[in-house]
Amino acid sequence: MNLEIFYNRLPEKLKHILSQLFKLGKEMNIKLYLVGGPVRDLILNREVLDLDLVVNRDLEVLLERLREEFSFKIEPTRFLTAKVYFDDFILDIAETRKEYYPLPGALPEVSPGTLKSDAYRRDFTINALYLEITTNGFSKLIDYVGGVKDLQKKIIRVLKRNSFYEDPTRIIRAVRYEQRFGFKMETGTLSLLKKAVKENVFSTVTPQRLGAEFIRTLREKNVFNPLRRLDELCGFDFLNVSIKLTSEKISSFKRWDSYKYKRDVLCPEIIPLMILLSDLELLELDRISQILELTRAQRSLLKKYVRLDKEKILSLLSKKLSVSKIYDRLNNLDFEIVVCLHLLAKGQARRNLDLYLKKLVGLRLEVTGEDVKNLGIAQGPQIGHLLERLKKARLEGKVKTREDEIRYIKKLGDVDRVSGN
Ligand code: CTP
Repeated sequence: MNLEIFYNRLPEKLKHILSQLFKLGKEMNIKLYLVGGPVRDLILNREVLDLDLVVNRDLEVLLERLREEFSFKIEPTRFLTAKVYFDDFILDIAETRKEYYPLPGALPEVSPGTLKSDAYRRDFTINALYLEITTNGFSKLIDYVGGVKDLQKKIIRVLKRNSFYEDPTRIIRAVRYEQRFGFKMETGTLSLLKKAVKENVFSTVTPQRLGAEFIRTLREKNVFNPLRRLDELCGFDFLNVSIKLTSEKISSFKRWDSYKYKRDVLCPEIIPLMILLSDLELLELDRISQILELTRAQRSLLKKYVRLDKEKILSLLSKKLSVSKIYDRLNNLDFEIVVCLHLLAKGQARRNLDLYLKKLVGLRLEVTGEDVKNLGIAQGPQIGHLLERLKKARLEGKVKTREDEIRYIKKLGDVDRVSGN
């Protein structure tokens, strides 16, 4: 393995921080290793954006020096671990440790350990590789568990027979890695996973911990394959609600995976969530919103989508319509809801939704709410209404430039004042 190539593949900023850390560590005789996801991703030639590091001792002292010398924001997380923030990057840094699980599913008891014990406490062989850091590079790749061979053979393999019992969230993780990389679960690992599911191992963990791992699955670039595989291996009962993968949902997920407006959706997991939960009862929706610790905005979108008469809207859109008619039917709906309808729609309804989204996504008003206020229109809901009507005029091509927009707003403002609206 060419360690120089791995190093050169890291973003410049990350290389810089690694060399600073190395210098500090060396002064204190502390060894530093890159571990887990980033090592795996370097070997697989995938992009690395965040770093997981371990040090062989004295993490506290190293963090103190980091704080003094670079004034990085440092946040201790659990025992012997911390997060370091710099620019857009997050660095997870930990001291090598061993873990003991007092009960299946319980959080582990952690104590300092050797690098080898640190490797053996991990979930899968492909996540238990280390690159030792040196001046401007890596000095060696350390593999206690056959992780490199498994990466080459494209295999997901647990390190211990009771791995899924110790931490049932690893069932969801195994599926995520298998599907993300197009790997296979090693036969023994797959049998252990199935046995753990059969013995209801999920009941030993809080649904919240499982939910957090599940949400990470929904943030994957492709969600259909991991969801299909979860459905096949364990279903979704671990989320404490009854979720079915209907054929309608399957076709929406497939479309979402290569969806052209994906980048315009701010929160990547919200659309798969809306698709998956679209047919739940409101009570169940409340329950799962708590389990997944969703934000208020996410909960509100989900509720609106569940309540929406989707069939009715799609049937209203199922004939050829002018842009302005389409706008009238859709403009009171949130962008994410329109996206879900678009993923669901077929035939003419799909074409109408596409037209609307194409125009809407490319549509940025030149004037802002502040501009409207400066035109003498009193603050309040009227500003929002005027901006909505302006958008519609833009969609219809009635206004094109900033001057057109200002003229249009003035005209509307005058009319509204006269009519007392
Ligand atoms: N880990 C583990 N068991 C878990 C969670 C994490 O052994 N239940 C270990 C793995 O070695 C993993 C590392 O902790 O590589 C960091 O965890 P995480 O950030 O969740 O894993 P990544 O592989 O970095 O995740 P991803 O690529 O999905 O971002």
